[in-house]
Amino acid sequence: MANVFTKAADGLMDWVNERAPGMMPVYRKHMTEYYAPKNFNIWYIFGVLSIVVLVNQIVTGIFLTMHFKPSAAEAFASVEYIMRDVEWGWLIRYMHSTGASMFFIVVYIHMFRGLMYGSYQKPRELVWILGMLIYLVLMAEAFMGYVLPWGQMSFWGAKVIISLFGAIPVIGNGLTEWIMGDYLPGDATLNRFFALHVIALPLVLLLLVVLHIGALHEVGSNNPDGIEIKKGPKGNRWSPSAPADGIPFHPYFTVKDGFYVCAFLVIAAFVIFFAPAFGGWFLEHDNFTEANRLVTPAHIKPVWYYTPYYAMLRVIPHKLSGVIVMFSAIAILFAVPWLDRSKVRSHRYRGWMTKVALGLLAVCFVWLGKIGAGPGTDPVETQIGRVLTFLYFAIFITMPVWTKFDKTKPLPERVTLHD
Ligand code: HEM
Repeated sequence: MANVFTKAADGLMDWVNERAPGMMPVYRKHMTEYYAPKNFNIWYIFGVLSIVVLVNQIVTGIFLTMHFKPSAAEAFASVEYIMRDVEWGWLIRYMHSTGASMFFIVVYIHMFRGLMYGSYQKPRELVWILGMLIYLVLMAEAFMGYVLPWGQMSFWGAKVIISLFGAIPVIGNGLTEWIMGDYLPGDATLNRFFALHVIALPLVLLLLVVLHIGALHEVGSNNPDGIEIKKGPKGNRWSPSAPADGIPFHPYFTVKDGFYVCAFLVIAAFVIFFAPAFGGWFLEHDNFTEANRLVTPAHIKPVWYYTPYYAMLRVIPHKLSGVIVMFSAIAILFAVPWLDRSKVRSHRYRGWMTKVALGLLAVCFVWLGKIGAGPGTDPVETQIGRVLTFLYFAIFITMPVWTKFDKTKPLPERVTLHD
């Protein structure tokens, strides 16, 4: 029986190959003949997890679109309808809303991995830049998605964030009106955000992800030791010309990643079933009340993944300066490949300065996130927020200095298989 299936599958493959001979070489280049360093550790699964979450968002998003009504009069009720009346609608909706937070968790870890192992250094600057573009689009995508259920936080969050453009001199007010299509977020805003959220930005995201992985596969993956396996000895049991320290992505890493994907899905399922709102962090309590332009929520704040930047905006007393600082905090990440002057990529072979800087950066980001999620009324917290914002920028601006003077250890000839 198995023989019959194998024969049928082989026959089908031959049939396709005869008609599209260019397909197998692409498959081989990216899967069976993509030689990935054999010392990948757990930090290297977050790229694949990002793809898994992206697929989840697209599939669950398609099903939500089937029942969602993109109008200010009907949006909130249509989401309630999905939650209560559509078969399995509650599951689809929670998979999508929890998926958004999961996306940012895996992407933040993925980015931090890049910083730890210097994965942005030559020749992977383009991989990093494309990653940063993905991050920007992802933030816009999530923001517009959050507006769609037309809850209190959707409305007031949209109002606060879009009004930021009003701080731009001369064109500010006009620009704000142009984005909203009204003087306040309304039907026009919801309609255009829906169009951008369900089709325009997902297409851009998909394209960027393909380019991101394509760019990576041109130069090959970095690894926890930060040494180029392509420059090392050649020849392994699969090919005499492949790097000796590389192993085929398929089947070796597909199986390994598959295991971690299953573990990740178990954790995600646990959150989806038992804590979908995650104590107000993934879905804010105020968003379970319909948007009302006459009632302002007590604390307007964005979802957790924006709060580090939101904190920077809020601790700066001057609005335009706050907006500039907030956007610069993201923009400076684009420059990291050129700010880093170290001859060594991985933190493993760098000195204490890199370790302190990376640790400090993580502390600043998380702490600012906590401050941004709070009411913003405590003056001591505001002062702490200012210090953390200063430190955040100082780490990047002084990066050429500390990366240059940080003591490095000699690099190994071949990749090492221990942490
Ligand atoms: C939708 C979001 C994203 C997806 C699906 C994605 C996917 C991937 C995949 C599959 C890999 C190869 C496996 C791995 O090294 O983990 C990768 C590598 C990489 N990604 Fe992303 N990525 C995303 C966002 C980002 C962002 C926001 C950045 C940083 C700004 C980034 C920077 C990198 C870098 C530098 C590498 C090379 C890592 C190395 O070789 O050491 N990615 N990405």
